[in-house]
Amino acid sequence: MTDRTSIHGQWSSRLAFILAATGSAVGLGNIWKFPYITGENGGGAFVLVYLVCVVIVGIPIMMAEVLIGRRGRQSPINTMRLLAHEESRHGIWQIVGWSGMVAGFLIISFYSVIAGWALAYVFRTASGTFTGVTADGVSSIFSSLVSDPERLLAWHTIFMVMTTIVVSRGVRSGLEQAVRVLMPLLFMLLLVLVGYAMNTDKFDEGLAFLFSPNFSALTPGAVLTAMGHAFFTLSLGMGAIMIYGSYLPKSASITKTSVVVALMDTLVALLAGMAIFPIVFANGLEAGAGPGLIFQTLPLAFGHMPGGTLFGTLFFVLLVFAAWTSGISLLEPAVAWLVENQGVNRVRAATLMGILGWLFGIVTIMSFSSWAFEFDFAGETKRSGMFDILDILTANIMLPLGGLAMAVFAGWFMSRDSTMDELGMGDSLVFRGWFFLVRYVTPVAVIVVFLQLLGVIDF
Ligand code: PFF
Repeated sequence: MTDRTSIHGQWSSRLAFILAATGSAVGLGNIWKFPYITGENGGGAFVLVYLVCVVIVGIPIMMAEVLIGRRGRQSPINTMRLLAHEESRHGIWQIVGWSGMVAGFLIISFYSVIAGWALAYVFRTASGTFTGVTADGVSSIFSSLVSDPERLLAWHTIFMVMTTIVVSRGVRSGLEQAVRVLMPLLFMLLLVLVGYAMNTDKFDEGLAFLFSPNFSALTPGAVLTAMGHAFFTLSLGMGAIMIYGSYLPKSASITKTSVVVALMDTLVALLAGMAIFPIVFANGLEAGAGPGLIFQTLPLAFGHMPGGTLFGTLFFVLLVFAAWTSGISLLEPAVAWLVENQGVNRVRAATLMGILGWLFGIVTIMSFSSWAFEFDFAGETKRSGMFDILDILTANIMLPLGGLAMAVFAGWFMSRDSTMDELGMGDSLVFRGWFFLVRYVTPVAVIVVFLQLLGVIDF
């Protein structure tokens, strides 16, 4: 029925979409964030809630987001406006696109700073800084980096420039190729690290920490964090996957591609956890060390393994690439919107958004040194002021609300004919399963988590 074309182009194949969407999903969220929030929230039970969220909330919303994107074939703001109009709904639905654009911009501002840490670590590892260094030594190298705003600004600037350049050249050229090579390499290096972790005498303890649930450690805040992380790690709820869907050929199956992307993303996160926690326990480090966790554990492993300088350097290079392919998807929705609505060309649009993100990144940079302050959120103490606020506001609030709105739109406000047409599997069992999830299970799950946090309900 409906098949428009996007003015921004189209992926060359289904595989290209899978790679790009996986490139967006697999990033700092998997390797940096997942281990440290798991560490802060007590391990197993948190991981279990996260996995449940990926299945009952993440995959159905990813399908909804891709189908909305492909049907509209425009930036999220214009797609929501167009589909609302076509389905005879109120134009207010475009607010989903607006909030996504703001969320993307807020996320890129801190994401780029952390990607800058990874960039800095490429050079530290390559020059052998970590060879033979003790756990204390590694920690002090990390602290001296994050408490130096000028150095952080330099790395943040480099990452923002890299991201802006790719977005300014359009998603198709370069990116498809890059992800095709980089993703398998990243995967292999993670396996090398898991191999190293297996040889520490704490591998079992690491596994137990990740996989044996202790529900008494689960606070309402932890449940929200786990759900928020499912959105963050799958790049859901802000229009990144929607815009990637808008470049997806009509013939591709939305269900299969979504499941593949979610599986790969989850696998990378679990492998990262299996590599990191044994090293944490074997070296008497703190699992709840916060955002610096991987920057204090992995260099230890690299500093003590044969070939560590090479593997370590490669690893941080790939981490930068993983962050890069995610970073571009954070800017793309806003850039596409500027191109569509303001008649600006892509290069200008990308530059403008890049500069805005860069400027705002200064807030995060300062939050690790002179602007740092502590506060309590849902029973946990946060130490890095504005950085934590931005993280909570986007991952734990804006993305789940955005995703909720997309699920409700696809499940209740689009006609069954439209969604069935777009998913292309007729009135099959899979379609009905998705429809049920997106109409009832997903919205209820998101709302229950929020109500529980607000203390309205208590389990
Ligand atoms: N999914 C990315 C990660 O796990 O690092 C982060 C991200 C990218 C979040 C794009 C949201 C987004 F739209």
